[in-house]
Parts: sequence; C-alpha cells; structure tokens
Amino acid sequence: MVIMTNESDNRKKVLINLDYIIPNKTFVYPIYSFDGEKLLEKNEVLTAQKIKIIIEKYGSTVYYFASDAASTPEFNKIYNSFVTKTKNMFENIAQNESVTVDDYKSSEEMVSGLIEDLDNKSITIADIAHDIENFDDYIFYHSVNTCLLTAMVLKWKRKYSRNDIENIALGAFFSDLGMLKLEREILNKPDKLNKDEFLKVRSHPHEGYNILKTINNINPIVLQTVLFHHEQFDDEGYYAIPYETLPYPPKIVSICNMYDALTSPRPYRQPYSSAIAIKRIVNSINSKFDYKLVSDFMNCVGLILNNSQLFYRRGDFCILNTREICLISEIPAADIMRPKVIVFARYDYSGNNVTTKFYDNPIEIDLTKDTNRRLDSLVIRQDLIDVLRNKLIDRKTLVDYLYVTQPEK
Ligand SMILES: [Fe+2]
Repeated sequence: MVIMTNESDNRKKVLINLDYIIPNKTFVYPIYSFDGEKLLEKNEVLTAQKIKIIIEKYGSTVYYFASDAASTPEFNKIYNSFVTKTKNMFENIAQNESVTVDDYKSSEEMVSGLIEDLDNKSITIADIAHDIENFDDYIFYHSVNTCLLTAMVLKWKRKYSRNDIENIALGAFFSDLGMLKLEREILNKPDKLNKDEFLKVRSHPHEGYNILKTINNINPIVLQTVLFHHEQFDDEGYYAIPYETLPYPPKIVSICNMYDALTSPRPYRQPYSSAIAIKRIVNSINSKFDYKLVSDFMNCVGLILNNSQLFYRRGDFCILNTREICLISEIPAADIMRPKVIVFARYDYSGNNVTTKFYDNPIEIDLTKDTNRRLDSLVIRQDLIDVLRNKLIDRKTLVDYLYVTQPEK
C-alpha cells in the first residue's frame, strides 16, 4: 500500500490501481483523481464503463482518503485498546518468563470481544495498522493482526464453531509469544542472522509452547497452533512435520502470520505493499502452503487487504500446475483464484535444462470448469515477463492481450 500526503491536505491518501479492480464494485468511500477531483461518490457502483472513462481521462491510478475508509471509530478503539493491553501483558510475560492465569483469561476475553465485533462491523484495511514507529512494538501489533486475520478467515469459512474460532484465534495471538525470550539485538538486527541467532529464532514456537503449557486446562488447539505455525507444505518447516498430517489451525495461522510480517516494516527491509505480499503468498503454493489454503485466504481477505484490488489483471502471465504458461484473459468475481486463461506454452525439465514449447494454437481455459488445472504461480520477474512478451510478439500471437502488461509500480 502506498500512502502519500501533500501540503494542502495532509490526510493520508491510499492509491488504487484501476487495472486491478473487478467491475461493479461499490466502494464505501469516495474516489479521487490525482488533481483532487472527486470521481466516484461513496457507495456509487464502479462499472466497467466508468473504469474505462476514468482511465482514459485520468490514468489508472486514483486514490481515496484512509480516514474515509476506517470502518468505525468504535472498532478502532477496540483495536487500539487490544494493542495497548497486549503490550502491557507481553512486557510482564517477558520479565517473568511466565504467563499468569489472569493474563491468559484477559487474552481470552480480548479475543472473544474482537470476534464478537467482527459480527457487527465490516473491517477494512485501514483497521490493520502498520504505522509502527518503534520496532520494539512490532510484536504487539503483529500478534493482534495475526489474530484478527485468522478470525476473519475462519468466520468466512463458516465451518468452525464459535468456540473453535476463539481458540484458534487465541493460538494466533500467542503464536510468536516465544519471541519475547529472544534478545532485542536479534529481533532488531538489520543484517542477516548468524547460525546461532537463526537457531534461537527457530526455537520460538517451542518457547511459546513452554510458557503457555503451564496454564491449567488450556485448550490443546491453542498449544498446537503455537507449536506448529511454522510448518510448511514442502515439509521444510521448523519441525519438518508431514503437511498432510497437520491440522488446519496452525496452517491458517501460518498464512495470516506471513501476510502481516511481509506488510510490516522490519529492521532489515521496508514493508511490502499488500499487492506484492499477496503475490508472494500465491507464489508460495506447493512450497509453504497448499492450494486450498491460499485459495481460502485470497477469497476471504485478499480483496480487503489489497484495497479492493485483485492481485493480477488481464494480460498478466501465470503458470498452471500442468506446467502450462498462460495469459490471464478474464477476471472472475466468484473465485479469484480461478480466472479464465489462455494457454500458449508448456515447459519441461530434462536434467538441468528447461525446454519451453510454444503452441501453434493457444487455447482458452476456464479454471472454474477445468478442475484438473489450477493456478500455481504468477510470473512476477520482469526479465521472464519480457522474454514471454517478446516471444508472443515475434510469433504474432495474443498481442492484443499484451497492451496492459506494464511493469507494476
Ligand atoms: Fe512465528
């Protein structure tokens, strides 16, 4: 997310790229051009025709004011109070190296209150704060945000009881508790960690588990979530547990944890934009996550987190699980992980060599209907995008689709 201010109006502005918007979307805030002209009223429908007219006249980039998008003052109050209470509690836990029954009970109440509030309020990106001024505060915001995102996805799935959602969200809240045992120098180190430091960081799920297991009758879902939130699809996680044997709670916490970590400022890098963070999550299918998990996350919170924008657009290149290379031709509203694509090539390995065969007759496939094929990754490296574009231009194939494929800002 890019936030900018100018001298005449110092309210935060959030940029939107109209190339990525699904038509017929209604925004709960007004949209402005760069010249400050109001282009769309609050709750006005943004049709395909309006998008076309705005792009022709003003270009693809427009903005809204972050203050217009904040869901409700009451929710902000609950969120800020949650962060403050977390800070006080985590500082006590760090000092005493243990959690009291009162702390645990108070965490249960906070998480329960937050979930209750999700029933009544629509949450926007403005509610998920990343304006962290002090890196020492990162862990408090990160714990609350991971909890909030986890609760949102679980409520969207409509598969879990209220009690289970509360326990999984509580596990999300405590997932990085073990980080409190690490020296501040390691947490805030701007350079690459050495081997010893890396091993200490890897011990944080177990450290968190050790702190929490002293609570009598703690729900096993909470402990399980804390302990296994760094397991991966390729079995390269901290404990290398086979992914298919892992239950759902630590898996969903893992993806929410990654999104918030990527979009937060860290001592060793700037925060990634929502769009880039989402693309990195999609491109972690079959390494960190499985397809279904990513699909759940994208269809539930992807649009909210990316300012109502998709993470790809017509004309972007993607790869399918069948090693087919495609152009995205139509953007779906019902399942954003299943676009219509035009397959124009297929790659294969022989030893260390990769060979790519281009088709004489590309074929359009609707991924909502063809369930044997699915989106595996987006081509985001500019050098690869350029090679594919040039190849299609040389072959005079699908060139009508290439006009929108400009490097993303
Ligand atoms: Fe973690």
